[in-house]
Amino acid sequence: MEKQVPGTGKSSFDLIDARELFERLSLEKASTFVDLGCGRGEYAIEAALRIGERGAVYAIDLWEEGLVILGTEGEFRGLPQLKAIIADICAALPLQDQSTDVCFAATVLHDLVREGCADRTLEEASRILRPQGILAIVEFKKFDGHPGPPIDVKLSPDQVEQIVAAHGFTRKEFTEIGPYNYLITFHPPVALNNG
Ligand SMILES: C[S@@+](CC[C@H](N)C(=O)[O-])C[C@H]1O[C@@H](n2cnc3c(N)ncnc32)[C@H](O)[C@@H]1O
Repeated sequence: MEKQVPGTGKSSFDLIDARELFERLSLEKASTFVDLGCGRGEYAIEAALRIGERGAVYAIDLWEEGLVILGTEGEFRGLPQLKAIIADICAALPLQDQSTDVCFAATVLHDLVREGCADRTLEEASRILRPQGILAIVEFKKFDGHPGPPIDVKLSPDQVEQIVAAHGFTRKEFTEIGPYNYLITFHPPVALNNG
């Protein structure tokens, strides 16, 4: 049976300040960007335009319809660096160890907490990030009402930091990006050399 995932079909892209967000991510040409729970992929398109054809954007979701929309848009815009992948982000990600410069999840972490698998996703993010890479989490501010999920599902910056820090990530930067959302970036855990 198909896995039912919360949040399917919803996008936060129109609510945020994209210029501020991508400035904070400082994407370099030819880098690798992974968009976890990409939806119809507006962030993935923006990232693909910025990193250019020598880079790679892996946009991952279980929502097939969203990925079809994204694939069509990528072809229309001539973005061969953009790859739409149907996969469960609560399972092993189809990416090599230390292959990723930016691992990005916009308004997805609260869904993963609801699905009970945020820890698994963060373990995978830690595995695929390069030592100098960043994890970037966008979430809704914790207020009552729309837009976004109910207040008890929304995650405060402290909650996000607690969930993510439990996997050895350390906070880099906090930024408000528009009236409803914030971005927190993290450095990946430092790999211990036991050799
Ligand atoms: C609220 S939407 C956000 C979409 C997009 N990141 C944005 O902000 O525009 C959450 C997305 O996460 C996806 N999602 C949730 N759980 C998932 C899982 N376990 N595996 C893959 N995708 C998942 C949903 O299908 C949905 O597209």
